[in-house]
Amino acid sequence: MSKTALLKLDDKEYPLPIIEGTEGEKAIDTRQLRVTTGHVAYDQGYGNTGSCESKITFLDGDNGILRHRGYPIDQLARYSDFVETAYLVIYGELPTSARRKEFGLLLRKNAAVETQMQKILEGFPTSASPMAMLSALVSALPAYYADLATNNFEKDLQNFDQAAAIAISKIRTFVAMIYRYQKGLPFIFPKHELPFCDNFLHMMFSDPYQEYVPVPEVSKALNLVLLLHADHEQNCSTSTVRMVGSSSANLFTSMSAGICALSGPLHGGANVAVMQMLQSIHDEGDDGSRFIAAAKSGTKGNRLMGFGHAVYRNFDPRAKIIGDACDTVLTRLGINDPLLAIAKHLEQAALKDDYFVSRKLYPNVDFYSGIIMRAIGIPMNMFTTMFAIGRSPGYISNWHEVASNPKGRIYRPRQIYTGATTRDYLPMAQRG
Ligand code: ACO
Repeated sequence: MSKTALLKLDDKEYPLPIIEGTEGEKAIDTRQLRVTTGHVAYDQGYGNTGSCESKITFLDGDNGILRHRGYPIDQLARYSDFVETAYLVIYGELPTSARRKEFGLLLRKNAAVETQMQKILEGFPTSASPMAMLSALVSALPAYYADLATNNFEKDLQNFDQAAAIAISKIRTFVAMIYRYQKGLPFIFPKHELPFCDNFLHMMFSDPYQEYVPVPEVSKALNLVLLLHADHEQNCSTSTVRMVGSSSANLFTSMSAGICALSGPLHGGANVAVMQMLQSIHDEGDDGSRFIAAAKSGTKGNRLMGFGHAVYRNFDPRAKIIGDACDTVLTRLGINDPLLAIAKHLEQAALKDDYFVSRKLYPNVDFYSGIIMRAIGIPMNMFTTMFAIGRSPGYISNWHEVASNPKGRIYRPRQIYTGATTRDYLPMAQRG
């Protein structure tokens, strides 16, 4: 028999169904609450609201667990690469060798960007935010692939494989183009024979006279950074993708909205904020004590960037993997980055400080990802766009769940209105 919770309101009792997930997560189903009781559930920022059922990612923030389609993130980080993990996140299973080849081929075929789209980019000032450029380019995709982006779920799902490959492959190309446009460099075309990450590095760093050939450590590090960002349950930008998608918007439009949501410094923009913080500590010769003291003031503007997480209350498993990789990558590349030493010192100091310990604030994935990206040669202003490449499989698979759910409804939360009560319109002359 299914379980119920009992809500008592004004001496009347209301049974509320309990839903249980495959990992034992329990939820009280409040969908009928307003109809039966006249009350809505209030949960500012949805911190305790399950907005959907999903088969993609399991995250247990109290125990530092992250699994995609059942596979633990540390196993994927150790044995898989970005493209294979992207396939897993999108299609639900690790690919067979034949499917992996097909998927790789589809990504390669869709790597190049139409000449006309370059003009969209060239309409931006070179000083514009790379995330603004990226979201604009992605939101323009339906104009170029109208038959794959019809805003009709049934039709769009028929062309899903192609649309998904376009999204992943072109977002990567867009990022390389944005980098080169801002530097005043000519665009470099993708090379069909190169693996996904090497192709990206080629489009970023080759020049017409000298081809950039990455050392294996760099390709591996890039694969790791992207893989660790592949999906993360109902975070701010992925929920945005789902919300926009729920209106029957096509994949590209929904992803573009997600990219906008990702740009904020409390979400995808945090990796930039971390590097700015580490750099200013370095420039001022501080050992981090000043930053820690300021962070403890409780004001939002002074937070220790790269610390804390809306869901992880123990540790962020991605932070541990990326922190360890940082040492390996920098050692193999022979790079001695003073910011790594500052980051480590800051982490040790914060982890001993009662303010951070009592609030369960630990380094998150962004605390070390910037140092790795800097070692690869990615400039700081491009960090969040790298996050967007990595997160594209998560956006795609979440959009797919929304689009293929026959019982899905448009995302439309309620609110508690706290404004003025009814009043009569005053003509201008009587307003004083
Ligand atoms: N530095 C100092 N204090 C912090 C920090 C921080 N980084 N993060 C949270 N706190 C404090 C809060 O002020 C609050 O203190 P209080 O209880 O005295 O009021 C307490 O810790 C609890 O924090 P919450 O506000 O509940 O945390 P919330 O879930 O709202 O925010 C967030 C999570 C936004 C990630 C926050 O920790 C933060 O701003 N971190 C820095 C930005 C960052 O690194 N973002 C990247 C997140 S990971 C990602 O998007 C990939």
